[in-house]
Amino acid sequence: MKPIILTGDRPTGKLHIGHYVGSLKNRVLLQQEGNYQMFVFLADQQALTDHAKNPQKVRESIGQVALDYLAAGLDPEQVTIFIQSQIPELAELTMYYMNLVSLARLERNPTVKTEIAQKGFGESIPTGFLVYPIAQAADITAFKANLVPVGTDQKPMIEQTREIVRSFNHAYQTDILVEPEGIYPTNEAAGRLPGLDGNAKMSKSLNNGIFLADDMDTVQKKVMSMYTDPNHIRVEDPGQIEGNMVFHYLDVFGREEDAQTIAEMKEHYQRGGLGDVKTKRYLLEILDRELTPIRERRLEYAKDMGQVYRMLEKGSQVAREKAAQTLSEVKAAMGLNYF
Ligand code: TRP
Repeated sequence: MKPIILTGDRPTGKLHIGHYVGSLKNRVLLQQEGNYQMFVFLADQQALTDHAKNPQKVRESIGQVALDYLAAGLDPEQVTIFIQSQIPELAELTMYYMNLVSLARLERNPTVKTEIAQKGFGESIPTGFLVYPIAQAADITAFKANLVPVGTDQKPMIEQTREIVRSFNHAYQTDILVEPEGIYPTNEAAGRLPGLDGNAKMSKSLNNGIFLADDMDTVQKKVMSMYTDPNHIRVEDPGQIEGNMVFHYLDVFGREEDAQTIAEMKEHYQRGGLGDVKTKRYLLEILDRELTPIRERRLEYAKDMGQVYRMLEKGSQVAREKAAQTLSEVKAAMGLNYF
C-alpha cells in the first residue's frame, strides 16, 4: 500500500505566494511523484476556533482556497480534496482523544501559546481553540496518515498527535492508530517567505503579500513597492543584499538557469551601479513566469464555481468513508461496539 499523505489549511483568506513556495508547490510535486495516497483539506472547523463570530469569512474562503489549490496544480483525480466540517467522524474522534490529553499538556504546546498571545484572547481563551491540537490529531489519525507536510510552526502539533497515538494504542492494547511523521520545508529561504515590506511574515492583515489571485498589474505595483535597501539612494551607491526583499525573493523563485544572472546582479548591486528598478523588473519577469499559468488556471476554474463545489462534495464523501472506517475501529478497540 502507498504511504498516506495528509495536510490542510485554515480557510481564512486567499492563499499568497508564501503559501505557494512554502507548501502548495511541494504538494503538487508529491502528487506528481505518484507514490502516495494524498488527502488535502480545508480546516474550516479549526478556522472557526478563532473566527467563531465571523463564519462568513470562513465560508467565502472555502471557495477561494479551493480555487488556489486547483490553480496551483492539485488534481482532484489524484488527490482527495475535502472540507473538515463535512466529516462529523472527526469531531467524534476528538471526543475520545480529549480524555487522553491533560489540560496542562495543551497549555504547554508552544504554537498554541504563541497564538494565544498573538490573538489577544486574554483570560477568555475559547475552549475550542485550546483543544484544536487534539482535533488536529483526529484529522491526521482518521486517515492513518504516515506523512504530514506542514510548516515548522506545526511541529508541536505533530508531536502531540504522536503522543495521542501512542497513548491510545497503549491504553486500548491495539495498533490501529498510526504515528505520523512531519515533512518540513527544507529550503530555509522558502520556509517562511517574508512580506513585501520586509516583515518576517507575509499576511493578509499586514497587507504585504502577493496573492495567487492577483492580476499582473497588481503584482507589478506590489513588486515596485518592495522593501530593498533604504540606504541605497542613488544608483551608483553600493547596496546591501541582506534584508533586501528583492534579492530574497530572487533566491526563492529563481530557478537553476537563473542562478548565474542572480549572482552577477548581487555582485553588481553591492559594488554600486545597479538600480532597484532594474532588479525589480527582473524579479517581476521571474514571478510572472511562475504565476501566469497559475493565474490563468484560476480564472478558468472560477468560471464554474458549481463544479468546484461538486469536486469538494465528492472529495468529502470519499474522505468520510475513510474516517468512518477508522472511527469504527477506534470504537471497537474501546469496547464501544455494543450491538
Ligand atoms: N493547523 C494547520 C495550519 O494552521 C491546519 C491543519 C488542521 C492541519 N488540521 C491539520 C495541517 C492536519 C495538517 C494536518 O496550517
